[in-house]
Amino acid sequence: MPFDDLQFPRQHAIRAAGLVLTAGTLAAYGSEGEQDDKPAAGGEASTSSAPTEAPSGAIAKNADVPVGSGIIVDDVVVTQPAAGEFKAFSSSCTHKGCAVNKLADGTIDCPCHGSKFNLDGSVAKGPATKPLEAKSVTVEGDSIVLS
Ligand code: FES
Repeated sequence: MPFDDLQFPRQHAIRAAGLVLTAGTLAAYGSEGEQDDKPAAGGEASTSSAPTEAPSGAIAKNADVPVGSGIIVDDVVVTQPAAGEFKAFSSSCTHKGCAVNKLADGTIDCPCHGSKFNLDGSVAKGPATKPLEAKSVTVEGDSIVLS
């Protein structure tokens, strides 16, 4: 029966076409989803960074550092004790050298033996007795630059 022989491959062809169409639709949907996310993230960044590229040595955006707190970027702690006042320190605790790993309630905290440092790097609570090593930073546009 030649007709039946032809019909079977047609059914396969139709199913294959359906799969291709479904895969294509899913791929397009995935692409749109990614594109939807990118403009949102890029749009957010572009409003603050598009006019100026991040300068060489930039370690953070000003807006990323909360006033009255700070962030840890790699081995640098960046704080903003008061609005527009940025400070930076080595994340190495002056007690035994552990890396401080948390900023909370206005202090920079070391997980090893409980030392706490103020946002200006001075010791808030021992056993550390020396302040965190200060690093020089400048504000360039909307970026904080390690100098
Ligand atoms: S190394 Fe930080 S408290 Fe001891």
